[in-house]
Amino acid sequence: MSNELRKPLISGNWKMNHNHFEAIQCVQKLAYLLTKEDFSAVDVTIHPPFTDLRSVQTLIDADELRFILGAQHCHEADSGAFTGEVSAQFLAKLHVRYVIVGHSERRQIFGETDEVVQQKLATIQKHGMTPILCVGETLSDREAGRTHEKVLGQVRSALVKRTVEQVKSMVIAYEPIWAIGTGKTATAEDAQHIISAIRQEVALVTSGPAASAIRLQYGGSVKASNIGEIMSQPDIDGVLVGGASLDAAEFARICQRSQRSWG
Ligand code: PGA
Repeated sequence: MSNELRKPLISGNWKMNHNHFEAIQCVQKLAYLLTKEDFSAVDVTIHPPFTDLRSVQTLIDADELRFILGAQHCHEADSGAFTGEVSAQFLAKLHVRYVIVGHSERRQIFGETDEVVQQKLATIQKHGMTPILCVGETLSDREAGRTHEKVLGQVRSALVKRTVEQVKSMVIAYEPIWAIGTGKTATAEDAQHIISAIRQEVALVTSGPAASAIRLQYGGSVKASNIGEIMSQPDIDGVLVGGASLDAAEFARICQRSQRSWG
C-alpha cells in the first residue's frame, strides 16, 4: 500500500535510561544536529522516563524545539489509589502527545494484558494524546509459525472498541520480541510482510478508511546502518528505537536517513 500520505514518525524510547540532566544534554545535542528541513521531513517523538518529562518539556517549550514529547507508559485510570502509577491526565498537562502502550516489556515483565491495553488506549485518546500500540511475537511464536496469529490477534483486540477516527490517529509499532535489544532485526522484507498484514487487519476491523491513514512503525534493534533498508518498505512509516536512541548522534542519523518523499 502506498505511503505517500504518511509522514515518517521516528520515536526514541529511552526505557529506564538517562536521568533528567542526561536527558537535557541529549535533547540539546539532538536539537543541534537536526535541521529545520529534517523536522519538515519526519516527526520525531522522544519518550524519556517519567522523572525527565518536566525538564524535557520545559526545554522544548523554552527553545521552541520541534521534538514531540512522549511517555513510555500510563495507568488506565485517571486518578485513585494506584501507588506508583502515573495518570494519562497528568501526562497531557505536561504537553505529552504520544504514549507507548503494550510494549512487550510491559506485557512480559509487568503482566499488561490485552484487556488492560484496550483500557489504556481509551484513556490516552480521551485525554487527546496519540497511543503508540506495540505488538509482536516471541521467538517461540515465530518458530511455531504463529507470528501472524499472535500479532494480528493483538491488533484486533486493541482496535475493536475504537472508532474509525480513533484508529486513524493511532500508531501501531510492530516489534518482534526476539529482535528487541538483541542486535537481531527482522529482515526489512519480513517486517514489511507483517506490517502490511497489520494494515490489512486495520482495514478489516475498521471496514477500510483507517488503513491508509494509520502510521505503522517497525521496532527492534533499529540503527543508522539498517534504517535505510527498513524505511524503503512501502508499509513502514517509521521506527520505534530503543538502545540506538540514547546516543544523540546515532539517533540524529536515524532521523536523517528516514527521510523520503512522502507526498
Ligand atoms: P531496541 O528496542 O531498539 O533497543 O531493540 C526497541 C524497543 O523496545 O522499542
